[in-house]
Amino acid sequence: MKDLAYYNGNIAPIDEMMVPMNDRVCYFGDGVYEATMVNNHKIFALKEHLERLYNSAGLIGIAIPYTKDELADILNNLVQKVDSPEQMLYWQVTRGTAPRNHIYPSKDVKANLWVTIKPMKLKDPKKMLHVTDMEDTRFLHCNIKTLNLLVNCMAAQKAEEQGCDECVFHRGEIVTEGAHSNISILKDGVFITHPTDHYILPGITRMHMIQICKEQGIPVDETPFTMKELMEADEIFVSSATQLCRRVESLNGISIGGKDPERAELIQDCYMEKFLNETR
Ligand code: PDD
Repeated sequence: MKDLAYYNGNIAPIDEMMVPMNDRVCYFGDGVYEATMVNNHKIFALKEHLERLYNSAGLIGIAIPYTKDELADILNNLVQKVDSPEQMLYWQVTRGTAPRNHIYPSKDVKANLWVTIKPMKLKDPKKMLHVTDMEDTRFLHCNIKTLNLLVNCMAAQKAEEQGCDECVFHRGEIVTEGAHSNISILKDGVFITHPTDHYILPGITRMHMIQICKEQGIPVDETPFTMKELMEADEIFVSSATQLCRRVESLNGISIGGKDPERAELIQDCYMEKFLNETR
């Protein structure tokens, strides 16, 4: 298949898949999701993404009707069906299908599993990014990878309209994360990134970058930093499962970063090595 949609066991090309209107995701965005890259038909960091999915689902009281191993088998099987060896794998679990009602349906309503897989080439990790910024007006559950992404979409649209690749969210002066990525900086040889509280999504790529820094002897400081510190940082990273780990060269048209390329590229190279090793 060129691309694939899966809905509770039904498989079709994405454009042809039909889903019930009463899936609670249509009314409330009531569900959680994950996305990662696939290379050589192998899913990168599947274990970590499943761990976070079950955690997100647990935090909003959704019971996923599969064990992690069963869900891994479903996904591993689906990625074999798409022709391209390089894919983007997206999946979401929604609270089930029931007439619109804010109150959750009864426990016997089973959660729905959606999957889409489309061909996607790996992004060039060495391409430098341009970013803009926006006040982070999201709610206080940003640690949950929920489908309520309206403000994230507004931020991504702002970036698009400004000819930028990503939008940096900040609450007042404090940088939280990107519209669909985590933001980290290097300053004086230290890797600084927002702590994993309810203001950011605990990114898997961010976690891998922290592991890499520790392996490479780069100190890690999980402390909030300000927009001023971002502007004055030696290097700025945007990281996500689909963007990988990339460096920023401008914010609102002003040049930033680019002052510690060796250390930044070491982190990027180790990340790519990890990615390619795992998906060989
Ligand atoms: N987004 N923060 C937000 C708000 C995100 O949406 C994402 C990822 C991240 C990075 O997390 P990870 O490294 O685990 O991908 C941080 C995905 C890719 C998306 O929405 O498509």
